[in-house]
Amino acid sequence: MNIKPVALVSGANKGIGLQIAKELASKGFKVLVGTRKLDLGVVAARSVGAEAEAIQLDVTDHASIAAAARQIEDTLGRLDVLVNNAGISRPIQPGTPIEEMRDADKVSRVSVADMRVVFETNVFGVVAVTQAMLPLLRRAPAGRIVNISSAGGSLALKGNPSEYSRQYVGVYQTSKTALNAVTQAFAIELEETNIKVNAACPGFTATDLSNYAPGAGSVEDAAREPVRLALLDANGPTGTFSNADGPLPW
Ligand SMILES: NC(=O)c1ccc[n+]([C@@H]2O[C@H](COP(=O)([O-])OP(=O)(O)OC[C@H]3O[C@@H](n4cnc5c(N)ncnc54)[C@H](OP(=O)(O)O)[C@@H]3O)[C@@H](O)[C@H]2O)c1
Repeated sequence: MNIKPVALVSGANKGIGLQIAKELASKGFKVLVGTRKLDLGVVAARSVGAEAEAIQLDVTDHASIAAAARQIEDTLGRLDVLVNNAGISRPIQPGTPIEEMRDADKVSRVSVADMRVVFETNVFGVVAVTQAMLPLLRRAPAGRIVNISSAGGSLALKGNPSEYSRQYVGVYQTSKTALNAVTQAFAIELEETNIKVNAACPGFTATDLSNYAPGAGSVEDAAREPVRLALLDANGPTGTFSNADGPLPW
């Protein structure tokens, strides 16, 4: 019988999610490595820890989400930590330079179909997975939900004309603004429960999503704030947005 706290990380077969999974395993969690392709998740889970397990989870597929929730219910009975990490920038060809990605991502150019694809994963996927996992999180003594957002989604930062993030005003950023709103809404709704809901920006990080752009940081640095939020004690906050340097403005 499992007696460890249980953590599910979506999109944990690579990148920041994989690093978050490794760190939660090292903190004593039974980690479920969410992965849309099970074979990739099985390989990733081996690098996470002896007790880590891959779980098929496509955050845009209701059947996949429902099956994952059922599997956790049947085998573990509860969920202590949910990290909504799975995310995409936009449908891109591998190897596209970041400048080109940023340009094609602009709301004046992007097709609404591409925009829907991004929102399906980054926003509706988080809502759907969170809804499905809530009954399991309610059974944990101290449920924690961490949504992986981006400072690029901050409306307040973009209000400052000298702000660097004003360069980033594409579909991806608008999806993270919506994710922030979703984070706050869940946090307010769950404020009288033991579940805390927070959003973290991992920072610009060298992964497939950023095409390993020059200047991008390490996954170890990126995982720091999400892991801190996953481990908050009962006195910790809910409904916050932060990075490793501290609070970020919504
Ligand atoms: N890298 C950065 O600079 C940066 C900055 C700020 C925020 N973030 C956020 O950090 C999170 C992780 O990104 P990353 O940089 O680690 O990117 P990544 O290496 O591309 O990893 C993204 C992960 O999400 C998964 N994923 C995508 N669509 C999915 C779906 N429909 N269902 C389930 N999983 C799905 C991918 O699975 P596949 O392998 O199957 O594609 C992969 O495991 C994202 O939310 C991203 O927006 C990243």
